[in-house]
Amino acid sequence: MYEFVPRRLLVTGGCGFMGSAFVRWVAERRPEVRVTVLDKLTYAGNLANLKDVENKPNYKFVKMDICDFDGIYKLMQDEHVDGIIHLAAESHVDRSIKDPFTFAQTNVMGTLSLLQAAKLYWETLPEKWEGKRFYHISTDEVYGALELTHPQGIEPPFSTKASSGKHHLAYGAKFFTEDLKYQPHSPYSAAKASSDHFVRAFHDTYGLPTIVTNCSNNYGPYQFPEKLIPLFINNIRHRKPLPVYGKGENVRDWLFVEDHARAIDLIFHEGKIAETYNIGGFNEWKNIDLIKVLINTVDRLLGRKEGEDLDLITYVTDRAGHDLRYAIDSTKLQKELGWEPSLQFEEGIEKTVRWYLDNQEWMDNVTSGDYQKYYDDMYKNR
Ligand code: NAD
Ligand code: TYD
Repeated sequence: MYEFVPRRLLVTGGCGFMGSAFVRWVAERRPEVRVTVLDKLTYAGNLANLKDVENKPNYKFVKMDICDFDGIYKLMQDEHVDGIIHLAAESHVDRSIKDPFTFAQTNVMGTLSLLQAAKLYWETLPEKWEGKRFYHISTDEVYGALELTHPQGIEPPFSTKASSGKHHLAYGAKFFTEDLKYQPHSPYSAAKASSDHFVRAFHDTYGLPTIVTNCSNNYGPYQFPEKLIPLFINNIRHRKPLPVYGKGENVRDWLFVEDHARAIDLIFHEGKIAETYNIGGFNEWKNIDLIKVLINTVDRLLGRKEGEDLDLITYVTDRAGHDLRYAIDSTKLQKELGWEPSLQFEEGIEKTVRWYLDNQEWMDNVTSGDYQKYYDDMYKNR
């Protein structure tokens, strides 16, 4: 298998949940690669997420907006960037419902400015596209919603290490495959879909060497606590109500974030240009069942009676346009590149809950805004 070997990597959104997991992954395992992280440090971006790598000689941080075309072009020149992994985005569906403009600005215009900067910079080089790669991280939410035809769950047509856990069910017979038509419903997924189209258009029109992956819901350490899993772990700990949207019947497919980081690394190096790969956990859960697992796990790890906090569950008004079921079929990735999730959900959730319980200070910092001070103290003299 041909392995693409970049030397100068630009990672956008590297201070977010998934971006930081990828930067930790690559900085540890590929010391020969220089990683420049570009991040605007919105409320969701936090330099403390990269504490583990901040002293590594192959890592550098630059505070910048992906909409800043001139800044990106110059940065690419200065750093001789030959590979881009693009994760920067506004990522929370509830925020997109309140403020769709910011999502169009960052996710669409920001992606476009990055594509154009990469195209113009790489075109100036004698070897042009050769040895270059633009990898765009997208979501399964662009495919829309699947029906929930089997409320009790059925045996899924996949078999992996992840699916040998206690719970492994599919809640419908259909899955998202790479050839499906995009049908986004939320302003978030509409903006991500639009950015995916721009990425493919840059390949088809100019020949830019692009790859797109669409991944299911990630969970793990360092996720901003407005997303279901970290928010609920924190609320259970502090015995605050758990706002379950609608009846809690919506289904999501969950993947441990380090498994996603490993998939990105593999696809970036060995995936085929112009291809799309779906990345999934083979791990569907109804929200309410997942929330009960969270309650039991937090209670047990805190020495409480298991299930003692079930009465925190509070059903609230449903999210507008709430997609019923997401379920990824990542057979293509499994067959072509041999990737599959390494963790069973039970192990992943235990690791995740432990991490949040052990890192209350991180939780307090990201929610209080103190991380801005951390940034100023850390970087004012650089
Ligand atoms: P996140 O919200 O935790 O992090 C986003 C990062 O992007 C932050 O560090 C933020 O500061 C930065 N950012 C935002 N706007 C920016 C801008 N204009 N310029 C520069 N940086 C900016 O998001 P995440 O969960 O880590 O998701 C990362 C990517 O993966 C996104 O593209 C998202 O659509 C995609 N994705 C996420 C999931 C998931 O479950 N979290 C699943 C599939 C795909
Ligand atoms: P979320 O973590 O926001 O991810 P996404 O919407 O991108 O899938 O939400 C996961 C699921 O949990 C989704 O069906 C919405 C639901 N949810 C709640 O029921 N209550 C909450 O407070 C949140 C944040 C989410």
